[in-house]
Amino acid sequence: MNASVSPQSRILASPRRGLSYACFDLAHFPFTPASVLAPMEGVTNAAVREVLASYGPVGLVSTEFVRISGGRISRAYLKRQVEKLPGVPLSVQVMGNDPELMAEAGAVVAEAGADVVDLNLGCPTNAAVRKGVGAALLKQPELLGCLLATMRRAVPGLLSAKLRAGFDSTSDALRNARLVQDCGLDFLTIHPRRRVDHYRGTADWRIVQLIKDELAIPIVGNGDVWCAEAALRMFEQTRCDAVMLGRPALRNPWIFRQLSELLAGRDPFRPSGRDVAAHLRRLARALAEHAGDPSHSPLGPLKEQLSYLCRSMPEGATLQRNLQRLPSLELLLEAADVAFNALSAEQLDLGARRAPALN
Ligand SMILES: Cc1cc2nc3c(=O)[nH]c(=O)nc-3n(C[C@H](O)[C@H](O)[C@H](O)COP(=O)(O)O)c2cc1C
Repeated sequence: MNASVSPQSRILASPRRGLSYACFDLAHFPFTPASVLAPMEGVTNAAVREVLASYGPVGLVSTEFVRISGGRISRAYLKRQVEKLPGVPLSVQVMGNDPELMAEAGAVVAEAGADVVDLNLGCPTNAAVRKGVGAALLKQPELLGCLLATMRRAVPGLLSAKLRAGFDSTSDALRNARLVQDCGLDFLTIHPRRRVDHYRGTADWRIVQLIKDELAIPIVGNGDVWCAEAALRMFEQTRCDAVMLGRPALRNPWIFRQLSELLAGRDPFRPSGRDVAAHLRRLARALAEHAGDPSHSPLGPLKEQLSYLCRSMPEGATLQRNLQRLPSLELLLEAADVAFNALSAEQLDLGARRAPALN
């Protein structure tokens, strides 16, 4: 064990299985546990955040990006984005490139209670790149520096950035990461893919490791952590201070719970098809409640969630296609009950230790 090991990592120490848990010093990240639900446009709305956070401890949950462009954004709109869950810290992500507007937006969401204001430096879509926001900023260090410094002056609390490894090359990853640190941000998340990769290929964790080795601020590693044990591998390989999970947490909503159980040296929960069916019903209720309008059906968002959940199932692609065709919420939930309830835990790829070949 490292001589400078923190009290927290000693508590987590459990050399009982495979990886040596004692090596993690997770006290550097401002939230406990050192895990984050990723920002995902159209997906990590308040309802989904609520349901996922209820299954297991997660240190921080993120909103999808809030677009800050084209003129002053209404304060009321910005404040509405700060939908907090009791006891679960919230990061509100903003995306734009006008330093004054972004600083003002950051200040408003911080004042409205966001525990973290996060800057999107990774959105790969053509629309974002055309507007010069998201990943486009990775190619403009002067503007990026000005944006970071202006936001830092305006946001009194925690300010972070979420960075892709580069636009079409990874050669500027370290320069951009240093800029984030030099401008005084509190932590940095790395999604180690380039913009040109979109979500293809495999996240290159060596870039997380490289940046962690060079920077002093906490580094959050993100990308392709498809099971709880893979999160332990990411901690071990990169020495990152926290892990961020996006698609894997939609595919396996219990992954944060499994991670905390692995860290504590306990046998991790193994969900069965009944758990997945109950999860879908909970999501449907939460989506309807958060919509605030009883006539608003959660069918569309639920189908989006199904596209991730079915990835853990045998014949998942066929099952997903069949469920996607159903025209009403009732039919969808009934058919999902029939299909999922029949599946045992062993038939599902939702174990804490298996690293599925998925993407
Ligand atoms: C549907 C979808 C929407 C996303 N929206 C955002 C977003 O709003 N902001 C952001 O920084 N990243 C966004 N991302 C990227 C994720 O936060 C994350 O970096 C990426 O999915 C890799 O992590 P994962 O392998 O854990 O999913 C999105 C990804 C997906 C799949």
